Order: sequence, then structure tokens, then C-alpha cells
Amino acid sequence: MTNSADGLLPFFAMDILKRAKSLEGQGRGICRLEVGEPGAPPAPRVLEAVAQALPEPQGYTNAKGLDSLRRGLACHYEQQYAVAIDPDLIVATMGSSAGFILAFHTAFRPGARIAVTRPGYPAYVNTILGLGFRIAEIPVGAANDWRLTGAQIAAAHAKQPFEGLLFASPANPTGAAVDREQLADIVATCARLGVTFISDEIYHGLDYRGPSVSALELTRDAIIINSFSKYYCMTGWRIGWMVLPEDLIRRAEILQQNLFISAPTLSQIAATVALRERDYAEAQKAAYARNRVLLGQGLRELGFDLPHDSDGAFYAYAGIGKFSNDAMDFCLTMLDRAGVAATPGVDFDRTDGNGYVRFSYAGTQRTVEEALERMRGFLEAGG
Ligand SMILES: Cc1ncc(COP(=O)(O)O)c(C=O)c1O
Repeated sequence: MTNSADGLLPFFAMDILKRAKSLEGQGRGICRLEVGEPGAPPAPRVLEAVAQALPEPQGYTNAKGLDSLRRGLACHYEQQYAVAIDPDLIVATMGSSAGFILAFHTAFRPGARIAVTRPGYPAYVNTILGLGFRIAEIPVGAANDWRLTGAQIAAAHAKQPFEGLLFASPANPTGAAVDREQLADIVATCARLGVTFISDEIYHGLDYRGPSVSALELTRDAIIINSFSKYYCMTGWRIGWMVLPEDLIRRAEILQQNLFISAPTLSQIAATVALRERDYAEAQKAAYARNRVLLGQGLRELGFDLPHDSDGAFYAYAGIGKFSNDAMDFCLTMLDRAGVAATPGVDFDRTDGNGYVRFSYAGTQRTVEEALERMRGFLEAGG
């Protein structure tokens, strides 16, 4: 499956997206459950603020970002997590994707080994390898509800030491979320092993069992990465942020100056307003929560293996053992025959992913209902 010497692979969800769009171009209606992005636009006030700012010159901002955005983010940490953060420790980034690049080059030198969970967000492995770092994969399984533990980190580190751990809770593709005690175990294990902890908190806010816990509530040594893409419905605006420890902030700022100059100005303006529009974001979340139950029940009825609905994010990572042992083939056939787009598990897990498919329930209820109906016909006809 590897198609380059360094192990870099395509992001299969994007390949499925390309095929789905091409079928749509031919006039077919496709239920789009393959890509993890909200169907709704940003909050109306965000759009108004951007319309107002548009005629002004949109120059670079300072490298770390607009003061108003970083003050707003400090306020967000105060209100949501009861932690006081100095706005000077915050950097506005081009989505969390740029945050990963800054985090890796800030904390490590090329060649350093960085650990991630398997399954996990595919860009983690591809970005780490593509930038000249090395990877360590820590397998997590359905038996422990896909949650990572300190013991698993320690066992993996004993086998093959690593300098960093990049971890998301809630996670993609499983939606698994750790609670305060479990996150404290992960943070303490990293501290004991001298491993730099990078906490990808992009799905914070999209939690269905209890409030998301930020690593900032437990330590000031972690690098926090977050984004406006998911909770605030702003994927294409390419805007996110990082919070860095004091000893790393200057290096992150210098890298940002040189690699990106600054995050997009209009998007920073939009993000500053989005932070105050939580009611809108919560209304979107309520719709995902309904879809989560609907999709979970539907998939179980169809014979997918999904012991319980996800803790957070907007994904169902469902076992397809009853239907296929080739997730890519299953997804391509389902897309062509039934017009339902989903992402093969091999995107997230190069070892065991053939047994799984990820469905995103970030779209409308109608899309989820229609997809379930179509899948019923597809599976009854033999897949
Ligand atoms: C866990 C995780 N981190 C980061 C990203 C990238 O997000 P952004 O749009 O902020 O670059 C995604 C996107 O799906 C994701 O699932």
C-alpha cells in the first residue's frame, strides 16, 4: 500500500471525496458521509463581520495573530476551562494542520520520533513522515473503547522510545474521548518518560458524554493545538490556534514568521467573532447529537459492528467484518452502487483498518436517513 519510500500515503478520504464529486458532476445524488466537515456555514454574525471588514486593506497581521483574537481565546480558556492563559502564549495558525508543522519543528529536530494512536487521523502519520520525523504507532482497540492509557504509552515507549506524543480527545476516527482522570494519566506518563505532549483539541465542544478536558487544566508543559474548523463550522477558512509553553513560544513565533508570516487576516477577524457565537455552535452540536443516535442505531440494525455511539466528534467507526475484509473495496463499491460515500478504515489504520469504515454524521439528518436507506438496499442485494 506504501507508494513512496518514506511511507507517505494518500489521504483516502480525499480520494473518495474526489470520486464522490465526480459522480455528482455526472448528475448522481451522493450521500456524503466521507469527510469530517460540518454542513452548516459559520454563524451569521461571523459573516456580517467579514462583510464589514472586506473593503478594508487585508494586510498581514503580526505573526502570532490579532491581539483581539488572542485575547478572545484567553477569555475562552477562562470561561470554558477555568484556566488563565497569557495571550502572548497563543499563536493563530492556518488551521490545526499548520499547527502540527509548527509544533513538530518547534519541539523537535528532524529525525525525532513522534507517537500517535492507531487508528488515528491519517494526516498525523503523513505529516510526521513527510516532514522528516519518525513515527511510533500505539495501537488502541475497541475492547478499551478506543481510549489510550498511560500503560499503553509506557509499554510502547519501552519497546521503542519516542520524544513526542500527538493525541486527540475526542479522536478521529473513533470519537473516543478520555475523561479528566484518564487524561491526567496520559499527561503524567508523558512527563515521567520525558515525552513532549501535543494535545490536538480540535473536537473540543463536540462531546456527548461530558465536557472536554483540556491538557491546559493539567499541565503548562504541553503544546495545545485547536481549530475553528469543526465546532465553529469553519473548515475552509483555515484558521486555528496553538497554546505553547513559555520556553517554546519564541521559537514557534519565529517559525510562523518564516513559514507562514501570519494566519489569514479575514479568517482571524471571523474567528474572533465566532468565539462569541457559542449558541450557534451548540445548535449545530445538538443536530450532530441527534444524527449520532440515528446513525448508530441504523448501522447496528444493518449488521455493522458498533458497540456504542461515539463519545465525541461526529464519527462512527464501524466494523464491517460481516460484509467484507477489504474496506477500500467496500467503500468504492458502496459509493458506485448505492451512492453512499464513507471512508475506509485503512485511512486511519494501515494495519487493521481493512475491518472498518468511518461514517461522518456532521451533515443533515436527511442525509443520514437517506444513506441508511440506500445502504439497506445495497447490503440486502449482497453488497
Ligand atoms: C483530529 C484532527 N486534527 C486536525 C484536523 C485538521 O483540521 P484543520 O482544518 O484545523 O486543519 C482534522 C480534520 O479532520 C482532524 O480530524
